[in-house]
Amino acid sequence: MARIIKAELAVDRAIELVKAGELVVFPTETVYGLGANAFDARAVAKIFAAKGRPQDNPLIVHIATLDQAKDIAVDIPPAFYALAEKFMPGPLTVILKKSDKIPDVVTAGGDTVGVRMPDNVYARKVIAGSFPLAAPSANRSKHISPTLAEHVEEDLGDSVKLIMDGGPCRVGIESTVLDLTTDMPTILRPGYVTANMLAEELGEVSEQGKIIRVAKAPGMKYAHYCPAVETVTAPDVERAIKAYDVARAQDKRPVVVAREIWHESLRGREFISLGTTAEDYARNIYAALHTAEKRNGYIIIEELVGADIAPSVMNRVFKAAGGKRV
Ligand code: TXA
Ligand code: MG
Repeated sequence: MARIIKAELAVDRAIELVKAGELVVFPTETVYGLGANAFDARAVAKIFAAKGRPQDNPLIVHIATLDQAKDIAVDIPPAFYALAEKFMPGPLTVILKKSDKIPDVVTAGGDTVGVRMPDNVYARKVIAGSFPLAAPSANRSKHISPTLAEHVEEDLGDSVKLIMDGGPCRVGIESTVLDLTTDMPTILRPGYVTANMLAEELGEVSEQGKIIRVAKAPGMKYAHYCPAVETVTAPDVERAIKAYDVARAQDKRPVVVAREIWHESLRGREFISLGTTAEDYARNIYAALHTAEKRNGYIIIEELVGADIAPSVMNRVFKAAGGKRV
């Protein structure tokens, strides 16, 4: 029978067992893991035997420090380190190209390997004190994953010597599995770290054939293109005129920045021309805003509608106005 020992008291014993090629059950934030020295094919084979797991289902390798990833994987892309910074330790497994040091039994003969840094300090102490741990969830194959030490004892108590008891698992479902060896990062198993969270870091990920994209140009989330004085946009000239007259009544020294075609309607009001075409508008807009912020206290910009460059120009103009419209 397995001994269930409080995780903090079981670290040394677990290290001994791993070094001796034995199995240990360790807590993680997702579910309990059934671990063995990932570099030891004979030790890893015991995992498959204990679980009754099919040999063609690869195991995740658990690490304690990012340095250890280099022993497990090769050609590690920068994206891995970007994700690590954000999500590790945590419930994310990243599939990378396997290193020759990892025996085939871990990866079910494949040339890729799953790498994950569990968010449990005692699990990481064991790994740091022994070896990276190849580990699946600590349940019999096809049974429910364990989120308490007792669950493991019921399922695997006869085939393991030590269960480190870390209490209930905080996350409670298995890690997100993300493949970084494909052209587009691909989620193989959804989890606590969602497609959107990953797309925020990577720009795009694919999940179940769907592509999730997040605009990632650096700086786009910060305020940009902002004049030093209050600025709004107006969808048409009537609204621009109304806003102008209200602002003038409040002594705000308003100006309308618009295309030349509105000059007649704006007669008697201060006006800066952007030329006539969309290209003119793009070419002149920043200069107009420079002038306006020096001379005026309130800027009303005509919105440009249409296809082609209009949306790109309006991307800057809406930012300049902080999204304020009249
Ligand atoms: O949260 C978790 O990931 C837990 C804890 C213990 O870390 N582990 C876990 O392991 O759920 P397991 O073996 O029950 O599930 C691992 C999943 C399997 O679906 C497996 O096929 C997939 O990850 N997997 C592992 N290595 C892979 C690889 N190289 N390529 C593709 N899929 C892989
Ligand atoms: Mg499992």
